[in-house]
Amino acid sequence: MAFFDEIRDGKAYKYLVNGQWKASGSNNRIKLFSPLYDEHFAEIQSVTRQEIDEVMEAALQAQQKWKDTPLHERAELLHKAAALLVENKDEIVKVLVHEVGKPRKSAEDEVLRSADLINYTAEEGIRIHGELLYSDSFPGNKRNKYALVGRVPLGVVLAIPPFNYPINLAASKVAPALVAGNAVVLKTPTQGAVSALHFVQAFHKAGFPPGLINAVTGKGSEIGDYLVEHPRVSMITFTGSTQTGLNIAKKAGMKPLQLELGGKDASIVFEDADLDEAAKNIVSGAFSFSGQRCTAVKRVLVLDSIADQLRDKIIAEVKKLKVGSPDENADICPLIDKNAADFVEGLIKDAEKKGAKLCTPFKRENNTISPVVVDNVTEEMQLAWEEPFGPVLPLIRVKSVDDAIRIANGSEYGLQAAIFTRDIKKALEISRKIDVGTVQINGKTARGPDHFPFLGTKSSGIGTQGVRYSIEAMTRTKSLVINL
Ligand code: G3P
Repeated sequence: MAFFDEIRDGKAYKYLVNGQWKASGSNNRIKLFSPLYDEHFAEIQSVTRQEIDEVMEAALQAQQKWKDTPLHERAELLHKAAALLVENKDEIVKVLVHEVGKPRKSAEDEVLRSADLINYTAEEGIRIHGELLYSDSFPGNKRNKYALVGRVPLGVVLAIPPFNYPINLAASKVAPALVAGNAVVLKTPTQGAVSALHFVQAFHKAGFPPGLINAVTGKGSEIGDYLVEHPRVSMITFTGSTQTGLNIAKKAGMKPLQLELGGKDASIVFEDADLDEAAKNIVSGAFSFSGQRCTAVKRVLVLDSIADQLRDKIIAEVKKLKVGSPDENADICPLIDKNAADFVEGLIKDAEKKGAKLCTPFKRENNTISPVVVDNVTEEMQLAWEEPFGPVLPLIRVKSVDDAIRIANGSEYGLQAAIFTRDIKKALEISRKIDVGTVQINGKTARGPDHFPFLGTKSSGIGTQGVRYSIEAMTRTKSLVINL
């Protein structure tokens, strides 16, 4: 039997419960269409609440044994899953290209990067350890108490990755959860589900005990709240929209959360910057995967005196981008669906109506929008504040450094920002004033490498990702006090 045969029956993909791929008893399936050809290429199960209960029960049972499994054995299984992902890369890449329209080269990178992440997590995981505290460090105490402080797993982790990185952002949730001694229930995104189910098969085949990793599919609007509120779930890790993240936070009660949500990452360019390098970084940061990344460069704040120069360099870089099919590795490909393309078009039209200047023409064919650079964007325009998740880059001209900081911080989001300058002192000073999770100096905004901390302030989320940070988020402190 081929590696992925058991996860589907014709076009219908199954869900994974207690080590078995199954069709849902609901007989309801969700049709998936490829953004490339609008072709109905797959169906996923719409699981029922009762099936979710069975999944949760299986996860809990498996976790009870897994928490006592030696760390090095957990790590070995993770290495095996990573190896299986690499072995089966070609088929997974095909699915990523077809299902989410990811350019072939980026799809390959996503699979390999995920294997690296899993291997690194296995290595980091075997070094989970605690500390010993003595009572006499605290005033008025003798050394008659020892606190042995360790880390223990949380239980069942509900992991919800998004459509744009269905493999990598599944890996960044699943691997730390497992190595830390948790079980996982992965709720796949709807579009991106097939890719995520392929990912799960690598874990299933690696030999993790039945029930330790499960995958459920269905509409968030139907099963999302039920999953989030489920009493068996001990922790939720989610990447996606701010609106959904907020809903999860409201429903989650006392469950710990790791939420990675929207962004409106600003690139601030100063007079003393290397403008060629800045333009290259900005264009690659803004337009890779057609702008469908939470860390994409989503606005440029540029000092008036160099704005024309930078704009021309940006346009020259944008002209090099190839518009076309992800199969042929084009840079700009169809957006995930019609709503996404309509939204981007609306933002561009609003800016144009309010006086902004399109430096590259607006062209749309179905859901493919050619890259658009919009100059003279002002604070009255939606494009200055909304996250487009598409191939459009607004340039906002600013009069002073203070103006740039004010506009950067005026966003409801606080994921990342980039500062381009040769003056490191200035960069450090300004980075302190910008309210985001990460400031990049002389480089585009981006999440990786995947062991770096990744977090946002304000509406960009809560909690910190990154291998070690995720392991910490998926464990809690447990203290044992010895009284002598
Ligand atoms: O949109 C998801 C976010 O995590 C982007 O990651 O690696 O493209 O910066 P990256």
